[in-house]
Amino acid sequence: MSRAPRRKSTAPEWPKPVPPGDTRDRGGQAQPMLLVENLRKYFAIRGGLLNRKIGDVKAVDGITFAVFKGETLGIVGESGCGKSTLARLLMGLIPAEGGKIVFDGDPVGGPSGLTLRELRRNLQMVFQDSDSSLNPRLPIEESVAYGPRVQGATRDATKKTTQDLLQRVGLRPDLFGGRYPHELSGGQKQRVNIARALALNPRMLILDEAVSALDKSIEAQVLNLLRYLKRHFNLTYIFISHDLNVVQYIADRVMVMYLGEVVEIGPSESIYHQARHPYTRALLDSRLALDPADRVETAPLTGDPPNPIQPPSGCRFRTRCEFAEDMCATTAPALGESLDRASHRAACHMANPASGHKRAGQLPSVARPAAMMYSVEAS
Ligand SMILES: Nc1ncnc2c1ncn2[C@@H]1O[C@H](COP(=O)(O)OP(=O)(O)OP(=O)(O)O)[C@@H](O)[C@H]1O
Ligand code: SF4
Ligand SMILES: [Mg+2]
Repeated sequence: MSRAPRRKSTAPEWPKPVPPGDTRDRGGQAQPMLLVENLRKYFAIRGGLLNRKIGDVKAVDGITFAVFKGETLGIVGESGCGKSTLARLLMGLIPAEGGKIVFDGDPVGGPSGLTLRELRRNLQMVFQDSDSSLNPRLPIEESVAYGPRVQGATRDATKKTTQDLLQRVGLRPDLFGGRYPHELSGGQKQRVNIARALALNPRMLILDEAVSALDKSIEAQVLNLLRYLKRHFNLTYIFISHDLNVVQYIADRVMVMYLGEVVEIGPSESIYHQARHPYTRALLDSRLALDPADRVETAPLTGDPPNPIQPPSGCRFRTRCEFAEDMCATTAPALGESLDRASHRAACHMANPASGHKRAGQLPSVARPAAMMYSVEAS
């Protein structure tokens, strides 16, 4: 079935400062840049002699959230909770079992929705592994120009703008443009990856552990660069990290995941100072305190997450939660449906004053206050 063209398919415009009134903006500030509804991804697990399906890993299990224009949404959670799977689903790198993704009002996929090609003109991703993202046989200038060339831009048209982008990410084009990835440090390679992600002039970036492999001093420089680029190109970020200190520094709002589900979401300030979910509280208390006087004696979060193939009934966190009661095994706590930017919601019976939990309406205990533990000089 042929479908009516929705957008002009021309060679991409090169990155340039986007004025506050971005002409690509369709729904205005009130319309989320990205709306995700009930997104699911199950990986089949096979075993036995006949390699039959023996179960599913529910890597992303019914996730609903919005990312608002111009914000940075931090996504945190332990290893294996589904952060990267969610990122890959949003980029269309793997198919979803179900759910809906809407980009600035346009549904992604389906007969009348945005195609993946159209989506990727607007949404790009930077991965943790700077090495595997770059072609070792291409000079970095050509790596940066690759995406636009594939989309139809001429070599001449890309030359100057590639150089501008390298300059913007802090790599002098005359010194670095002709170098190959093995001639760069980890931080420099990650700068190239960021330039490459920006080469199609996207409106939004997903940064999946993009600074996690870097030394602390380099990490700070790249974080500052990301803040500068966000302002300069009027970008919106999803910033995925296991480091809550870094997320506190860069994110406007935070979404906490546990075993494929969202357990808490809200403005950073509120999450870091008044976490409502015991899991978030434990993650915050597990942060490394720089001041020895602030260190806690016992580990706030013990044991591994349960088997994702057979998650616990009711609340998935109940096997590790010190506040678990009988009702936590039988009734899954709801997160609530408000997508309001300012709303702070937690999927815990304690967060619902009418739930019947003995501690309903109380906040989980605080081992130490969530002072800002990360700071870099503003650029
Ligand atoms: N291709 C796959 N096949 C089977 N299971 C998978 C696949 N990819 C991911 N998983 C499983 O899905 C779950 C979520 O994995 P994912 O990589 O999204 O976690 P993560 O939160 O990004 O972890 P990390 O912090 O270690 O990067 C894990 O249990 C993982 O083992
Ligand atoms: S619902 Fe129950 S088990 Fe789950 S986090 Fe809240 S108190 Fe703990
Ligand atoms: Mg990951």
